[in-house]
Amino acid sequence: MPFKRHILRKTARKLAKTEGGEEEPTEEDLPELPVKPKEVEVSDLMKGFEEYEKEEQEMSEEDKSRIRSLREEYEKGLLKETAEAGAAEAVPKVVDFSRVTDSVTGTREAMPHVETKEFAEAAKELAKAAKEMAKATTAKKPDEDGRMKNIPLKAHKIPIQYVKTMRAEWQPPDFADVNAIYPLIKPFAMVNLKWNQDRNKLEYLLIEPHMTAEQKRTLKTLKELVVDLLDINLFEIKEAASIRTVLKEKMNKVINDYGIILTEYEYQKILYYMYRDFLGLERLEPIMHDPAIEDVSCDGVKVPLYIYHRKYGSVATNVQFEDDEELNKFVIRIAQRCGKHISVAEPLLDGALPDGSRVQATFSSHKDIAMHGSTFTIRKFTRDPLTITDLLHFGTLPAMMAAYIWMAMEYRKSILVAGSTATGKTSLLNALSMFLPEENKIVSIEDTPEVRLPHEHWLQKVVRTGFGREDITGKKQGEISMYDLLRAALRERPDNLIVGEVRGKEAYVLFQGMATGHAGMATVHGDSVDAVLHRLQTPPINLPSGLLQHLNIIIILTKTRVKNIEVRRIKEVVEVLGLSKEHEPIINTLFRWHPADDTFEFASDKSYVLQNIIEDKGIEEKSIWEEIQRRTRILEWMSANDIRYYIDVGKILQQYYKNPEAVIKNI
Ligand SMILES: Nc1ncnc2c1ncn2[C@@H]1O[C@H](COP(=O)(O)OP(=O)(O)O)[C@@H](O)[C@H]1O
Ligand SMILES: [Mg+2]
Repeated sequence: MPFKRHILRKTARKLAKTEGGEEEPTEEDLPELPVKPKEVEVSDLMKGFEEYEKEEQEMSEEDKSRIRSLREEYEKGLLKETAEAGAAEAVPKVVDFSRVTDSVTGTREAMPHVETKEFAEAAKELAKAAKEMAKATTAKKPDEDGRMKNIPLKAHKIPIQYVKTMRAEWQPPDFADVNAIYPLIKPFAMVNLKWNQDRNKLEYLLIEPHMTAEQKRTLKTLKELVVDLLDINLFEIKEAASIRTVLKEKMNKVINDYGIILTEYEYQKILYYMYRDFLGLERLEPIMHDPAIEDVSCDGVKVPLYIYHRKYGSVATNVQFEDDEELNKFVIRIAQRCGKHISVAEPLLDGALPDGSRVQATFSSHKDIAMHGSTFTIRKFTRDPLTITDLLHFGTLPAMMAAYIWMAMEYRKSILVAGSTATGKTSLLNALSMFLPEENKIVSIEDTPEVRLPHEHWLQKVVRTGFGREDITGKKQGEISMYDLLRAALRERPDNLIVGEVRGKEAYVLFQGMATGHAGMATVHGDSVDAVLHRLQTPPINLPSGLLQHLNIIIILTKTRVKNIEVRRIKEVVEVLGLSKEHEPIINTLFRWHPADDTFEFASDKSYVLQNIIEDKGIEEKSIWEEIQRRTRILEWMSANDIRYYIDVGKILQQYYKNPEAVIKNI
């Protein structure tokens, strides 16, 4: 089907002329454009192939043959399944997120500015509590009366039939057969995920419409002219949808005024690149549309961008920045999108894009900070958070360990998730939070909204950064810190407090909350129990050791390689029992991961946390282990049946609270 040649030749008016005093053309003067690209829907990939092939004159031989062979395979039906498998599988179901967003903005607007008077009072309150606790800890010698504040120091042995080595359900994926193709932005951008035999690795090959040299020139000119016509800075606009129309109108005007002649396909294609570059994240835009991608990272110039794919893990792309200038321009651009600033003087960026994706970047003009120039990582905002089912599939933890944590959470134990950067702390925290009973009042407090829960009774609070100069207390006008939010949250008497990441004085309030019966959960940076305990007790966190004993469990995550594949594992689950005479925390490592054979095992024959539940709730010892066994079965069943979407997972977990027998019967 040949494309019609649409001639947009209303050459008469040129911008030069309008500048010369003539009236600007009105909307009516502009011809109706023959196509409305936004509405063009190409239902299958075939059309995409056809279109690329039409433009193949200047395409590299490699591209040409790739598209040709893809097409052949597609026609033979070979690719259909993989295409679906790649995309469909990861496409999140539509969720109503208005509630979440409302609660975010609601919190931001409704939060009162904390008065200095209250601050002083709170400080007094906290100091008093800390003193009492310190007294309590020095008074009690753990080995004398055998009991600390929360946790008994004597525990029965775990019944032997439950002590076993656990293997994660994980299988190293076989990449050699992978050849998936699916659209990213229909019909313009698609991806081919393919095993590269020569390089012996999986590659993420982004395919975008090919541009001839002339088309490239046209696009460049159009961009410049459109920029001149825009009286607003597009970079500052956060609402892409509303600006789309403006952008298109301006482009149409330029095309018309300059009498630029384009075919229908050329027009669409150019409009695609205009949208992509003005409104999107340029060449990263299509990648950002892939629901299977978790994050995108760039380690510098002339290095391929890497993506993290839900199914395939870390994969190299065929996209890269060729020189410093190009990369730096891009990094500045993302910073602007985050409403932040990055430069040689302020080379570190930690921000969030308007869609909620998190960005971390370093700026380097002379290869001074990072070796290969500027770097960035974009962690995509996802409406489809990882669930416990995903983590079981990934082999991050075995079902029994999850069941143990579930049990502890039900009985309001406080948990810290620790690990180095990007070890999956936030994801684990979120997945675990779904274990909380629906009736619980949950308050989450974060710098950027990452936690996503199916719970009705969940209040999501997000820190608001201030503006202007810092005042005498070190705060900016309008700033609402984690500390403020936590203090306000405690007044709301939540059952569970979730803190995205503890870094400073907010830890004090969190632990204070734990001390007064609110179960706390948070992530903290640190790759071992010692590192975590040390971090908590030294500046800037500076937690008095007396407060430490209110913490019950520390989970240590690690990112490493198993069978040469990057994986995340729970390295240790550690119970915190209390403090020794010397105020040293007493710990019990319950589970440990063995890197050599990728298994998990009991590192202790006692669980003090469970013992505490047994004693406090008067539960029989045997039945607590039977219960853990039952929960293990449910988790395994969810995993076997691939019930992974967070709403579905949430439903089953909640059903189990209400009617355990019914759920067990069903599996
Ligand atoms: N258990 C896991 N297995 C595989 N990938 C994971 C796992 N947990 C998290 N991820 C991915 O790793 C990246 C970092 O996760 P995140 O939870 O934000 O880390 P952290 O909070 O430790 O910095 C995300 O892209 C996330 O999707
Ligand atoms: Mg995190």
